[in-house]
Amino acid sequence: MKNTNIFKPYLMKAPEYLGGKGTNEVVTKANKIYKLSSNENPLGASPKATQSIVESAKNLHIYPDRTGLRLQEALANFYDNELSADQFVPTNSGSESIEFIARAFLSEGHECIVSNPSFMPYTMFSGWNGAKVIDIPLELPNYELNVDAILAAINENTRLIFITSPNNPTGTYIPKEKIDALMDGIPEHVIVVLDEVYYHFANAADFTTAIPYVQAGKKMIAINSFSKTYGLAALRIGYAYSTPEIAQYLRALYRPFLINIIGLNAGIAALSDHEFIDATVDLVQKERERFYPVFDKLGLTYWKSQGNFILFKSPIDAPKLEQQLLEEAGVMVRNATNFGAPNCLRITIGTADANDAFLKGIQTLLG
Ligand SMILES: Cc1ncc(COP(=O)(O)O)c(C=O)c1O
Repeated sequence: MKNTNIFKPYLMKAPEYLGGKGTNEVVTKANKIYKLSSNENPLGASPKATQSIVESAKNLHIYPDRTGLRLQEALANFYDNELSADQFVPTNSGSESIEFIARAFLSEGHECIVSNPSFMPYTMFSGWNGAKVIDIPLELPNYELNVDAILAAINENTRLIFITSPNNPTGTYIPKEKIDALMDGIPEHVIVVLDEVYYHFANAADFTTAIPYVQAGKKMIAINSFSKTYGLAALRIGYAYSTPEIAQYLRALYRPFLINIIGLNAGIAALSDHEFIDATVDLVQKERERFYPVFDKLGLTYWKSQGNFILFKSPIDAPKLEQQLLEEAGVMVRNATNFGAPNCLRITIGTADANDAFLKGIQTLLG
C-alpha cells in the first residue's frame, strides 16, 4: 500500500498559539508581581458573576441548558433591544467566536484579509480551515486601517475581512467613517468581522461598534468577550452578534450543550452588574491618561489607546526591557513583536498601585 499522508498539510504548518505567561512562570527581585501582560481586569471579576458561579457549582452533575437562549435574551436586554435575541451567538470565549466564524465561512480555496499587527487567532484559525490569509498591514505611523488596499485585495475567493476596534495590541480604533467606507466597498460575498472585545473602554467621539451596521442588515459579525470588562477571563465565555440569518447559521455549529452552565449563568449575572462595569471602565479610562506624560517625558513612541492597554516602542531591545521591568519592578508586560509590532511592548492598565510600580520602574530604567 502506498504511503499515505494522513495529516492535513495546512494543519502541519499551523503555529501553536501561546498566550501570555502566568505569574507562576516568572521570577522577580521585587516584593510583588504585577501582571500587566494579558489585558485582564485589574478589579477582578464581577461580584454578581462570582456569586452566580457558587450557585451554579451546586449542580454540576446536570447538563446545562440545551441552547444559549437565556444568555441571548439577557444580551438583547443589555443592548436595550436594539438587537433581538436571535441575533446573538453565545460561545465559550471570544476566541471560540472567531473559530466558529472561520469554520463556518472558510475552506481550502478561500481567502480572508487581516490587518496586522492584530490578534493572532484570526490568522491561525483561518489557516486551520485551509484558507489563504492576506495581510494588509495597518499603516504607520498611526496604525490606521488601509481601506483602499483591503478593497483592492478582495477577489472572488475572499470571504472574511477581520478588523479590530479597539485593536490589540496597538490600542488604536477605526473611526466610523472608515468602517462606512469599507462596508460601502465590499461585494455581496464578503463578510466583515468586527472584533470589539475592548469596546467598553473606547470614548472617542467617532468610535462605533457593529450595531448600526448589523441593524441595517449589512454583512457584519461582531465578536465580544466576557474576559475583559466583566473580568471573567478564566471562565471562557463570549458571544458574537450579526443578522438573524448569519447568527442562526453560526449556531448550527454548536456542539451538544455547548455553553457550560457556569459561564452561561455568570455571563447573565455579569451583564446586570452595571456598578462593576462602570467601575472598571472609569478606572481604565482615568488611569490610562497617567501613562502618556511619562512616556512623553522619556521620549518614547507610543500609541494613544482606546483599550485597557497601551503599546509603546522600546528604546532598547524589547525582550531586555521586558525582563528588566519584571526583575526590577515586578511588572509583567507583553512583547508585541509576534503580533507584528516589532520591538514594541504592551502594558495593560492596572490598579493605581500597579501602574505606579510600572511608571516608577520604567523611569528608573530609562530615565
Ligand atoms: C482582540 C481580541 N479579540 C478576542 C480576544 C479573545 O478573548 P477571549 O477568548 O478571552 O474571550 C482577545 C483576547 O485577548 C483579543 O485581544
